[in-house]
Amino acid sequence: MTDTGSPSIETMLLEERRYPPDPEFAAQANAPAEIYERGFEEFWEAEGRERVSWYEPFTELYEWEPPYAKWYLGGKLNVAYNCVDRHVEAGLGDRVAYFWEGEPVEDRRTITYADLQAEVVRFANALKSLGVGKGTPVGIYMGMVPELPVAMLACARLGAPHTVVFGGFSADSLAGRLNDMGCEVLVTQDEGWRRGQPVPLKQNADEALESSRSVRSVVVLRRTGGDVAWREGRDVWWHDVAKDDSECPPEPVDSEHLLYLLYTSGTTAKPKGIVHTSAGYLVGTASTHRYIFDLKPETDVYWCAADVGWVTGHSYIVYGPLCNAATSVLYEGTPDFPDQARWWEIVERYGVTVLYTAPTAIRAHMKWGPEHAQKHDLASLRLLGSVGEPINPEAWVWYREHVGADRTPVVDTWWQTETGMILITPLPGVTTLKPGSATRPFPGIDAAVYDDDGDEVGPGAGGYLVLRRPWPAMLRGIHNDHERYVETYWSRFDGVYFAGDGARLDEDGDFWLLGRVDDVMNVSGHRISTIEVESALVDHPTVAEAAVCGRTDAVTGQAIVAYVTLKGGQDPSVDALEELRNHVARKIGPIAKPANVVFTPELPKTRSGKIMRRLLRDVAENRPLGDTTTLADPTVVEEIKTRAEAEQGDE
Ligand code: PRX
Repeated sequence: MTDTGSPSIETMLLEERRYPPDPEFAAQANAPAEIYERGFEEFWEAEGRERVSWYEPFTELYEWEPPYAKWYLGGKLNVAYNCVDRHVEAGLGDRVAYFWEGEPVEDRRTITYADLQAEVVRFANALKSLGVGKGTPVGIYMGMVPELPVAMLACARLGAPHTVVFGGFSADSLAGRLNDMGCEVLVTQDEGWRRGQPVPLKQNADEALESSRSVRSVVVLRRTGGDVAWREGRDVWWHDVAKDDSECPPEPVDSEHLLYLLYTSGTTAKPKGIVHTSAGYLVGTASTHRYIFDLKPETDVYWCAADVGWVTGHSYIVYGPLCNAATSVLYEGTPDFPDQARWWEIVERYGVTVLYTAPTAIRAHMKWGPEHAQKHDLASLRLLGSVGEPINPEAWVWYREHVGADRTPVVDTWWQTETGMILITPLPGVTTLKPGSATRPFPGIDAAVYDDDGDEVGPGAGGYLVLRRPWPAMLRGIHNDHERYVETYWSRFDGVYFAGDGARLDEDGDFWLLGRVDDVMNVSGHRISTIEVESALVDHPTVAEAAVCGRTDAVTGQAIVAYVTLKGGQDPSVDALEELRNHVARKIGPIAKPANVVFTPELPKTRSGKIMRRLLRDVAENRPLGDTTTLADPTVVEEIKTRAEAEQGDE
């Protein structure tokens, strides 16, 4: 890969701060230094036995027929049993599973493992009464309420695969996912809360269901009590159907039974249904959760401040932590509601010991200033984590100093929806930390950096991040799309998984992630494809053509810039601009709203008619333009530059 001169590369070269593990932390850590010496098979065999309880033990560790892997073959288990029932059986019924904090202050619940078991059984019985059984696909479209993990676990208990759709997605996005999976039941709620405002989840769901014919029943949780439309015969209230306490034995399933699909953006407009199965996923998330977050289930209060609607929440709010019998915080709202100290108030109230969040949130807190954290007692914190995008060293150091009292390790964890579990990460009692580096592959993970020709680069060089051996929680494909699976992940280099990220190895062989190398943007740690936003724009009746790219943003990592050509006779007014931004929010969700829209009479194209996004990125980043010799009309970019600058001047 050519060195693009991006700021992350320069920063990396200058970044020389080092944080060796604190001996006291190291002495009590779950992961000792020798963990790296364990062989691949030895490590995953032992993890398979120790993290999970089996109805029937596995007989074969894994099977690798590229590009498909299977893990823990021959085994039978139930994921919900592992996450809930076995802890109650082991006498941990009184341990808190979740401290739930609603967005409205004072809206709180403490849910023990025994409570969780009772709720999961009741809801599994409810789903059963609606005809859900092993293999029935269920959609879940909710906010951060305790009933969201309950619904996921109830599905897992019955062997019914779920797809959770992030509550910030639009009706269109929801419909696309429900249809792709063929969901028969949808679980939703009347409304959610976001910054004091109700979010109309049931209304969005109703709209989605106009084009999702496979859904025959809708279960609605009452959260806000707001009015909702009702379709008799299809809609039922959660509290009406989830009453039956009678036994609902967990369904034993094969290791490779489908646990869930989670949709993620790629380089085309259609989101991909990433396939995750039961045993390998559970072992992988539980193992990484235990070693990387050094989880001590008896004493830790762990808080992953992500949304369950993204993979981070699936793996590190629900399945990994519950499998490990952890006590977690589950928070419904935003970090700045009702004020910017809300997170720190939560840390103090519950005595949070481990906090896992995203660089975009850390940068928001930096912007608001350290005084909010200073108002609260954060002495309980002993470990901090980061995920979702490269963390700039300044944010890393700020996080450690202002949240972690310059005392806690910060683990920067690299992974993806597809990987299911963290793959590149420090181990807090072992690794010398470097702000901005995810450091090394987790034990049992074979990651490397390749150059353009597929040769492994040595220390000090950059290229493409690849994985050379399968891992337990890896995706088992893209739902109903073998070709796209092969094309997306397995075609760039022979026989290895290509993640789509650039990386560099430093002189010590530590990994520094450099962001995506394709047309996928990373906004607040969430992947959004340029083409998906372009399609949403072109869907608007006034738009003739659109091209979208990301530009660096101090808080969200990347922000979306849209270049739009309107159809003849349309007025590029401020109203038109707002209308287009809102149109994208309606089509995909507010997260995909362009930060800027630049109206232009033409887009820069090659003589063969291809849009030159590279030049648009240069304009968006205010960089000198790269090679323009292949442009059909060189005046076009100059015109766009002038318009973009004029727009920035207006801000
Ligand atoms: O580009 C990488 C970035 O996020 C992408 C995966 O996004 P998603 O599937 O939405 O999952 C996000 C949460 C796991 C990756 O391809 N990414 C994630 N973590 C890091 C990161 N980039 C750099 N450093 C990280 N720690």
